This record gives sequence, structure tokens and C-alpha cells, in this order.
Amino acid sequence: MKVEEKFPPPKELAKNAWIRTPEIYEEALRDTESFWAKAAEELDWFKPWSKVLDWNPPDSRWFVGGKINVSYNCLDRHVKTWRKNKVAIFWEGEPGDKRTLTYDDLYLEVNQIANILKQMDVKKGDRVTLYMPMVPELIVAMLACARIGAIHSVVFAGFSAKALRERIRDAEPKILVTANHSYRRGKIIPLKQNVDEALEESSSVERVVVYQRSDTEFTPMKSGRDFWWHELTVDAPLRCEPEPLDSEDPLFILYTSGTTGKPKGVVHVNGGYLVGVATTQKWVFDLKDEDVYWCTADIGWVTGHSYIVYGPLALGTTQVMYEGAPDYPQPDRLWEMIERYAVTIFYTAPTAIRAFMKWGEEWPKKHKLSSLRLLGSVGEPINPAAWLWYHQTIGGERCPIVDTWWQTETGMILITPLPGTTVLKPGSATLPFPGVKAEVVDKDGNPVPPDQGGFLVIKTPWPAMLRTIYRDHQRYRQTYWKRIPGAYFTGDGAKKDQDGYFWMMGRIDDVINVSGHRLGTMEVESALVSHPAVAEVAVVGKPHEFKGQSLTAYVMLRGGVNPSNALKEELKKHVRQEIGAIAVPDEIYLVDKLPKTRSGKIMRRIMRALLSNEDLGDTTTLEDPSAVEEVRRWLKEIK
Ligand code: PRX
Repeated sequence: MKVEEKFPPPKELAKNAWIRTPEIYEEALRDTESFWAKAAEELDWFKPWSKVLDWNPPDSRWFVGGKINVSYNCLDRHVKTWRKNKVAIFWEGEPGDKRTLTYDDLYLEVNQIANILKQMDVKKGDRVTLYMPMVPELIVAMLACARIGAIHSVVFAGFSAKALRERIRDAEPKILVTANHSYRRGKIIPLKQNVDEALEESSSVERVVVYQRSDTEFTPMKSGRDFWWHELTVDAPLRCEPEPLDSEDPLFILYTSGTTGKPKGVVHVNGGYLVGVATTQKWVFDLKDEDVYWCTADIGWVTGHSYIVYGPLALGTTQVMYEGAPDYPQPDRLWEMIERYAVTIFYTAPTAIRAFMKWGEEWPKKHKLSSLRLLGSVGEPINPAAWLWYHQTIGGERCPIVDTWWQTETGMILITPLPGTTVLKPGSATLPFPGVKAEVVDKDGNPVPPDQGGFLVIKTPWPAMLRTIYRDHQRYRQTYWKRIPGAYFTGDGAKKDQDGYFWMMGRIDDVINVSGHRLGTMEVESALVSHPAVAEVAVVGKPHEFKGQSLTAYVMLRGGVNPSNALKEELKKHVRQEIGAIAVPDEIYLVDKLPKTRSGKIMRRIMRALLSNEDLGDTTTLEDPSAVEEVRRWLKEIK
């Protein structure tokens, strides 16, 4: 099969009531506000908005004056109907334990936890940090916060105690919710122990609620601070009225990596976020009541927030949720689960697809995957070979693939096919979602000709866009709205082809994507520099066959420190403690100098371009050719 081949939408999809005709794109751009107002009407509002959009660049307010509650939309409105006893979550723990939760089950638990938070004096606008494994209680805690107007900050459970501490310091939560431990590839991950370490120094956290994932290990509890979830819920009241919140009240903070050492607290708000996420969930995934949907992301990242928690639950979807590793106990765990629950829609990341390819098609072949009707991809560019493998081996050549481009900051999918409408091209995220105006431009903001690389920007606001960086509005303006005149700067490079299809080319800044995890090279550099043996560091991302990208660190040691393999190992361990296992560089070179410009700046961009075989003139302004030669020589010497 040739890569240039196009895949038209299957006929049966085109018959669906909510699959849009191509005219929807024009219509939505002609009157974007009416388009989003219509989408917002699908949700339940306590008070209607008086104005769809108040756009005061770069600040936007959507559904101005509207009152809404996200947990009401995800639960109450379903339990009032037949969906009360519909399965919300088929959950599996890594060791094989199984639970089924209906909408009513979720509703009752959320009400209880909301009451417990209130009893702990959590008020509207207070922050609650959640550091939890992939268990339904994480969803419960998020919805409980949303119910009372508290702002949750979920910290990925793969982050270290130190990384957790840093995020706690910024968000200043009153309450932290965690679990005693979690499972990963059969090993026990001591989450509560990390929490204790993170809270060692003085902290805003007054109380810690601990969900008991299992009682296989003893968990020390600090009296007066730590409380077991199961003990608190014994007599917590079963009803908690949802708070009518302003559309623009914050719903959550989610920390993400940027180009400095300090992660950014991306802030999303109630109204616009839910409108954007629910609409894309329905249109992009063609979700229907009879579907069984599965997004394999971790809720610690934005994909889990938008397309495991808020999107699917707002639509009353039945979904599968899994706690552990995809190859535990064997590489067919996911295929076995697709067969068990008759999953119809499956959403995963290219890094996972490449791992499945490596493990071999004998694993999916062992299982009946004929329930699948739609596949999705997210997180990084999907190479055409992986796209075709996914289409053939998993999708049996009958399932369209929606390659969805978006970011923590965008909150919702912005560039994507609409199944049933869009002709697919393997490797392309295709077209902007209706109402979204994306463009590929040069550094002055002028569109570049077709097939030429440039900066991917978004020209008009969309409802789920981030509103600010927590406590740093200046950084919000600077990072996203100052680089390209009059547009939101995504940090991605892209090309548009002759048909107007978008082809993503990866980040053009110092943000990288390792196995679908977003990291800043500067964060890893700061972690390394905090080791006493290290003087200076350059961390560079380069393409990796399975992970998408991997990290290489060039480390200059302090005078008198002897290079050794033991020291390299120690540096890796240090990064694991500072950030987490995901940030440990694959390769560390101990060097005695780093290539620098005359003004003393490390030439990271040239290093990256050379390591990635990037075309230097493509998305970046052309560098000084002699500097390029110098870095090339330097890299050769190291090898
Ligand atoms: O570089 C783009 C890449 O992931 C970045 C956003 O990362 P994060 O905020 O962690 O969110 C990931 C999940 C939405 C983007 O700047 N990216 C995401 N989706 C795609 C992608 N690159 C290419 N194709 C995609 N479908």
C-alpha cells in the first residue's frame, strides 16, 4: 500500500446524524460565535450566557454571564434518565482486579467526596492536588472538586516527590488526595511515601486523603493530617448540591513543560472548556450511546483530563479504564481487554503503536478485535508506517483513524479529521476542526506557500483555550501571544499541502515528547545542574524509533571531578529523583567543553538540528554556517 494513498470515509459512517457535511467548515468560520453557541446549548446551564465571546486579545471570555457546573453535566443530568444504571466505567487494575461503575455509582461517590472536601473547609477557588494512580477514585476526586468549585491540580503519578513538591508550592493546595500505592509492570509504586517526602518541608497542605489501593503493604499515616478515603466515606452525606459556577471560573490547573526550567500551570475554566471538549468528543469520535470507548492515556496528562474524564462523561459514555502497563502480564493486555469489553472506539498514542509493532502482530492476532469501528491517535506526529500498521492490524482496514492534534493549552482537539466527512491521508492530522482557524506562517506571521515548513499558529480564539498561566499572566502573554503578531503561537512546526492538509513537524522550541510525555529540555538541564559534580549541561532531544524522541545530555563536570560510568549512573538516578523516570536521558556524554556562541550561549538549536537531521533552514532562521560546522565537528569528536 502506498503512503500517498487516500482513505475516504466509510459509507456507513456518513449516514450518522451528527456527521457533518463539508459545508460545516465554511459555515462555522462564517459565524463562529453562533457555531459555538449552538454547541453550548447541548450542555445544561443553570443560567444562560448573555454574550458568546468577549475577545480582548489575548484575553478571552466565553459564554459570559453563564452559570454551569461541570459535575452536574457529567453526572446529575444522566442519573435523571435511563443512563442512571448505564455503565460509566469498566475498570481493570493491573493485577487483574475488575470493577464496573454505573453513572449512579459515580454520582454517589462524587457527592460524598464533595461533602468531605467541604467538611475539610475547601471553598470555591481553593486548590486541591491529586496525585493518584489510574483508579476511578481519581475521576471521583476531580468531579468532586468541580462540584464545589475547587480547582484541581492533577500531578502525574510518575513524577517524583520533588516534582510534586514544586507543583504543590506553586498551586498552594489545602488538600492533597493520593493513594497508598499503585502498580506498574507488577511493581508497587509507593505514592504515599512520595507524598510524605514532598510535604516534609513546610507546605500549604493541611490534610491528605489516602485511597487504599490495596493493603499488601503497611502505610504510615500522620495523625491529624492523613485520613483514609474508605473511613471518611463511611458516614459522609450522600447528597451535595452542585455549585452554580461562572463560565469563567477556573476548573483546573495542569502543569506542563515549557522552555524554561519551571513548569507552567495551565488554567482552564468551566464553561468554554466543557463546551469545546464535549463537542470534539462527540464529533471527532462519533460517540453514540451504544459505544464502548477507550482512551489509553493517563489522567495525569491533558488527554486524560479532556478525553477520559470530561468529554466522555459529559456525553454519558461507557468507557474502559486501565491502571497499568500495556505489556503486563503479556503484550496482548490491551487486545485482550478490547475483546473482553467489545470496545468500539480506541484512542492511543503513536509511541504505543510503535511499541505494539515491535512486539509483533501475533499479539493482536490472538484476539477478536472486530468490535472496533474507529481508531484515534494523539500526542505526536504519527509516521505513515505506524498509521498503516494501526489501520491494517488493529483496525482490520475498516476503521478510520482520527489523528488529533492539540495541546495542554488548547484544552480540546483543534486539528483532526471528522470521521464520515474527511478523506484521510496517513501521517496527516488533516484539517482544523470547524470554527478553528489554523495557519502555517513565517516569523512575521505571513502564510507560507503550500508544502513549505513554518510555524503553526491559531488565528482566532476557541472556547477551551487556556485563560492564563497560574499566577503568571505575563508569561501567558509572552509565551503564546508575542511571538507571532496577532496569533496564538503553538510552538510546533508544520506544513500545509496543496489540499490544505496539515502535516505536523514536531516542536520548534525546547519542549520535547518522550514516549508521549511532554518534557522541557531545560527542566532536565536544571535537574542535572543541581548535582554537585556538574558545571554545565546541554540536553537535546533527538528522534527515537519507538519513543518518538529521546534525550541526550552533554554534561560538563566541575573542575577536579573525574568522569566515570558510575558517575553517569548516579546522574541518571539524580534526574529520576528530581523529576521522575520519564526524564532520565538515554545517553549521557561527559564532555570537557560545550559549543557556544561568542556571547556564551550554548548552541542547542544547532545541536538539535544536527542530531535530528533537520533541515536547518526550514522552520528556523538560518544559522551562521561556520557555527553549524563547528557543532558538527564537536559532535563527531564526542562520538
Ligand atoms: O508537538 C505537539 C504534540 O504534542 C504537543 C502537546 O503536548 P501536550 O501538551 O503534552 O499534549 C499532548 C496531548 C494533546 C504539541 O505541541 N502533538 C500532540 N498531538 C499531535 C502532536 N503532534 C503531531 N500530531 C498530533 N496529533
